[in-house]
Parts: sequence; C-alpha cells; structure tokens
Amino acid sequence: MNVDVAVIPAAGRGTRMRPATRVVPKALLTVVDRPAIQYAVEEAARAGATEAVIVVDLEVGHLIQQHFLVEDRLPGLEGMRIRPVVQEEPLGLGHAVYEAREMVRDRPFFCLLADNIVPPGHDVLGSLVEAADGDASVMCLRRLDDEYLSRYGVVVPGGPERDGILELAGAVEKPGVDEAPSRLGLIGRYLFQPEIFDILGETEPGVGGEIQLTDAIDELARMGRVRGYVADRDLLDVGTPLGLLEASVELGLARYGDDFRRVLEEVLSR
Ligand code: G1P
Repeated sequence: MNVDVAVIPAAGRGTRMRPATRVVPKALLTVVDRPAIQYAVEEAARAGATEAVIVVDLEVGHLIQQHFLVEDRLPGLEGMRIRPVVQEEPLGLGHAVYEAREMVRDRPFFCLLADNIVPPGHDVLGSLVEAADGDASVMCLRRLDDEYLSRYGVVVPGGPERDGILELAGAVEKPGVDEAPSRLGLIGRYLFQPEIFDILGETEPGVGGEIQLTDAIDELARMGRVRGYVADRDLLDVGTPLGLLEASVELGLARYGDDFRRVLEEVLSR
C-alpha cells in the first residue's frame, strides 16, 4: 500500500500550555529550533508522504499556514505539498479529521497528532503500513500506566498479539482505570482507510460533547477493519509544560550532543 497523504490536526488552542498559547497556536510552540508541528510534517515526509493536510483553527490557524508557506521551502520538505484546511468550530478531534475528507478523497492516509513527537530513530508510520497487510486501518499503541487510562483512548483487543500486531474489536475514549478494556492506548499515530470518513460523518458527540476520533475507530473496529501495532517507545508529549521540557532535552541532545550535555551537567551542578 502506498500512503502519500498525511492529515495533521492542529486546531487545538492548547489550554494546558497557557499563557504561552494565548496568542501563539500550540502547534507553533518551539521545540529546540522548530515548531512542534514541523516534526510531524517531517515524520510524514520520511514515511513517503508528499502531501500534508493541516487542519487549523479559524482564529490563529493562518500563522501555521504562514510558517509553511513563506517563500523559501523548508529543508527536508522540498517535495511536500502543504494544504491547510480550516476547522471553523472546535467540535472535536473526529470532526477535525473529517474536515480533511475532500482533500484526502479515496486514499489511505496517515494521521499524526502534532502534540506527540516521535523520538529520533523510532519512526512508526512504516510499521503501520506493514501491519495493514492489505487494506486494514492500523492504530499505533502503547501499554499505559494507570494514570494515562483517563487521558488516552484505550482499545479492546480482538485477538492475540503476535510480533506486536493484533486485531482490534473496539476502542473507548479516556475510559479511566475502572472502565478500561485493556491497557493498550492510542498514542496519536494512525493509518486510516478512507472508509473512516463515512463513519466520522455519522459519529455523534461523545466524551466532553466532542466528536471523538476514538468513537469512529470503535465503529470501524467492530466491523473487523482495524489492527493495532504496539510501538517500542512512547512518543514525546509536548502538550504540557513538563512534557515540552522533556522533549526539548531529548531532541536537544539528539541535535547538539555533547555541547548540550555539558550545558545540562553545568545547570544540574549549580
Ligand atoms: C487525543 C485522542 C486520544 C488519544 C490522545 C493521544 O486526546 O482523543 O484518543 O489517546 O489524543 O495523545 P487529547 O490528547 O486531544 O485529549
């Protein structure tokens, strides 16, 4: 299967990152030397995508658009076509993905949440394509600790796990530890078949009154159309201040090596 398009929802206003996000969209917060969302676009390009549909909000989304559309092309993204789509109302992640349907049309697509950055050397999108084995949708998963079962979508396993791949029978958005059907959580990387749009178009608001992507995944999984791929590492979460700091340190070390290590040691020794 050839996947040439990625949908990157970036319309969230980042309430957990106030006051940084009072004016600046959270997708443009700097991690080392580039905005968070640029990592997602670069990751999609490494997986072979040549088109990124970025779903932005009405108020500040034009700033994201400008970052990618200023005249000189960003190194590494020369072959990437960036297409913004405006989500006019914040009706949920499922609704944001649905807004990309006219640009994606009948193609399989990657979906990458820009809050989550893949650690250097741990790309997963290629593994999702392999796990699809033809034409399934594939969800990237991690085993979660208790506290995360109320912060992530959690899946219902539909069969045994072999080499990190399993069939899925359903999914629940942020179930909490008492209701969680498993410990396997959705970590923000997905490979969808275009049939997800038909389901999203019919999905009613769920948790928090929002149209949840997880509810559409649940529906598709009940039809036997979804697999899971368990990643070997957690993604870096830049949606909270501490997560952003952790990501900055890890990506900073990858970029500046010993120079930055010395800075960290110096700071820690004060
Ligand atoms: C979203 C999804 C959730 C997923 C999470 C991954 O939640 O709704 O299913 O597990 O991203 O980061 P949010 O972080 O927007 O609350």
